Amino acid sequence: MISDSISQKVASIFEDFNYRDYEYELLLTSFRGVLTNPGGTIARVILIGPPGSGKSYVLNNFQAKTQKRRIMNRETNFQLKCVNVNCINHASTKTVVLEIIQKIDPYFYANVDECQTAELQYILADILLARKVHLIVIFDNIDDLVEKEPEEVNSLIYGFQRFSEGKNDNEPNLFSQILVARDLEFIVELDRSVFRKIITDVIPFEPYTAEQTFQIVNTFVKKKVKRKIAEETIWFIALIARGNMRLALELIKKANHLAGIKHSLTIIPEHIRAVNKKLTDFHITKQMLEEYPIGYKLMLLTIARRFKSASRAFLNFLDLPSLYISICEEYNQMKNAKYFSDILNDLEKIAIISLHNVERDIFLTLSDIPANQLALYLEKNLKQKRRDKPYFL
Ligand SMILES: Nc1ncnc2c1ncn2[C@@H]1O[C@H](COP(=O)(O)OP(=O)(O)O)[C@@H](O)[C@H]1O
Ligand SMILES: [Mg+2]
Repeated sequence: MISDSISQKVASIFEDFNYRDYEYELLLTSFRGVLTNPGGTIARVILIGPPGSGKSYVLNNFQAKTQKRRIMNRETNFQLKCVNVNCINHASTKTVVLEIIQKIDPYFYANVDECQTAELQYILADILLARKVHLIVIFDNIDDLVEKEPEEVNSLIYGFQRFSEGKNDNEPNLFSQILVARDLEFIVELDRSVFRKIITDVIPFEPYTAEQTFQIVNTFVKKKVKRKIAEETIWFIALIARGNMRLALELIKKANHLAGIKHSLTIIPEHIRAVNKKLTDFHITKQMLEEYPIGYKLMLLTIARRFKSASRAFLNFLDLPSLYISICEEYNQMKNAKYFSDILNDLEKIAIISLHNVERDIFLTLSDIPANQLALYLEKNLKQKRRDKPYFL
């Protein structure tokens, strides 16, 4: 029987949630039975989505809220607990189960070398039975462990599910599972029977949109950042992050730190570029720049100089042609001037710059290298070609 007070408690868990209300509600719907009737039923859910899409964020909130509300089954006195294990920190399932046990009983000790995963699972089940606890286990980043130890993960999941099988109605259910992964690929590595017997809901997380990223970073800035930052620069962060909230927040935090080191009261796009250069896999190196055809170098120099002097995150495309032509002239390369559009498109293809349509205008950004650094590299590299070089005199 569902008591009213529990229904109320569950209802109050539904709250406003930074663009993740829908996913959160799906999660609560899957767990409605477990939340209202701990010990009486089980649930299993898989959360999938790319890094930084808010999976752990939603689960941390789910865990905190379910713990805080001390949900208990009035009839059986079974209570609900929820633990979260990050599988990235584990090389085997043994230590995973050990961590779960120690989260329930901090004084528990076992020599890992001398015990098996299955044994530890039985010990855990005994503890839960004695304490009358139904446990929701969150296996965060489970795909990481599946990559390392597919067979072990198979037995781990199957082991937990065995406690719910072949038992009569009077025996309590002890475990529910939440598996978290980038996508569903990891399932291929696991035994089919693991997924056949229990209904498993899948909740997909999409990357955040630029608009949502802007709003969340903006709120963060208002609460936590004392330095000034232009709205345009926050948009810049939102575009660079491409839906990865971890990257977006790291960019703002590290850029804030860098601005501090540089004694700047304002966070400017140049700080973001410098930080992004360190954070992203895509690195523009001196060697890459040296190998580009001269037309590319001149275009990049045009862009770098413009960003350097304007301290802007975005440039209007229309500002560029005349600047580019004057730089071609400066370096005695007028024959390259006519390739303006081709070169710009090529640079976008190799992802050094990106172009964005905003209403009827086209804006251009440079995000992986500070403009100042880029300009310095190129000016040094192109020195020989300059008109005012003594050689030409
Ligand atoms: N909707 C949100 N509102 C506020 N912060 C968020 C939101 N989603 C994610 N974050 C923050 O962004 C970072 C990355 O999110 P996370 O949930 O860890 O991503 P995932 O687990 O999908 O890789 C975390 O610091 C998290 O707190
Ligand atoms: Mg995560």
